[in-house]
Amino acid sequence: MAAVILSARGLVRHFGGLRAVDGVDLDLHRGESHALIGPNGAGKTTLVSLLSGRVPVQSGTITLDGVDITRLPAHARVARGVAYTFQITSIYARLSVFDNVALAVQRHPGDLRSGTMAALARVGLDDRAGQEAGTLSYGHQRLLEIAMGLALRPKVLILDEPTQGLANAEIDTFKALVRGLVPDTTVLLIEHNMDVVMDLAHRITVLNFGQVLAQGTPEQIRANPAVQAAYLGD
Ligand SMILES: Nc1ncnc2c1ncn2[C@@H]1O[C@H](COP(=O)(O)OP(=O)(O)O)[C@@H](O)[C@H]1O
Ligand SMILES: [Mg+2]
Repeated sequence: MAAVILSARGLVRHFGGLRAVDGVDLDLHRGESHALIGPNGAGKTTLVSLLSGRVPVQSGTITLDGVDITRLPAHARVARGVAYTFQITSIYARLSVFDNVALAVQRHPGDLRSGTMAALARVGLDDRAGQEAGTLSYGHQRLLEIAMGLALRPKVLILDEPTQGLANAEIDTFKALVRGLVPDTTVLLIEHNMDVVMDLAHRITVLNFGQVLAQGTPEQIRANPAVQAAYLGD
C-alpha cells in the first residue's frame, strides 16, 4: 500500500450548532486519486477547506509528509505543495488565459512561457492562451482553474467538483488529465459524477452529516449497504 502523504485526524468544524465536519479521519495515499463523495451539505467543501487552510479547524490535526500543518495559513500550505481549486470558479476574468496561469507559474524558477503553456496544454486550453479568461465558456473556466492549480506543481491537488458544468468531451479531457497526473501528484477530488468517481478513484471516502460513512475502494463502496441507503440508493 502506498505511503500516506496527507493525513487528517479528528477534524472538527462546526458553524454555530451545525456540525459541518464532525470528527473526520482521512488518509491520502501518495500517488493515488481519492474521491470524496456524499450528499449536498455533507461537509465535503468544508473538509477540503480545512485541509487547504481556507477555513481554520476547531480541533483535530492535519499532517503533510508527517509534518503538522494544522495551523499553517493557506498560502504556506500552497508553498508546501497543497493546491486546491474552489467549487466556485475564481479566475481573473479580465486577464488572458495565459496570464491567469502565468501568475501561478511565476512561483517557480524556469521559463515562464513554457511552464504556462505546458499547464494550459495539459487541460487542452493552449490554443486559447490569448483569450480574455472571462470570455471562456464555464467548462473552460473550470479547466483553466485546474491549469492554475497544476502550475503550482503541487504534491497534492484538491479539486472541488471540477466536472460540474463540463460537457461530455470536456469530462473526457479531465479524466485523461487526472490519469496523467497520478502517480506524480496525489489528487483529492470532490465529485458528484459517479462514472467519473468509479473511473478515476483508487479510494473513496463517503461523507454524510459531517462524518465518514464509509471509506474503501470503488468496489467496496459500491457494495456497502449504508452507502447505498444514504447516497447511491436508486
Ligand atoms: N461559512 C459557513 N457558515 C455557515 N454554515 C456553513 C458555512 N460553510 C458551510 N456551511 C454549512 O455546512 C454544511 C456543509 O456544507 P458544505 O461543506 O458546503 O457541504 P458540501 O460541500 O458537502 O455540499 C452545510 O449545511 C452548509 O450550509
Ligand atoms: Mg461543496
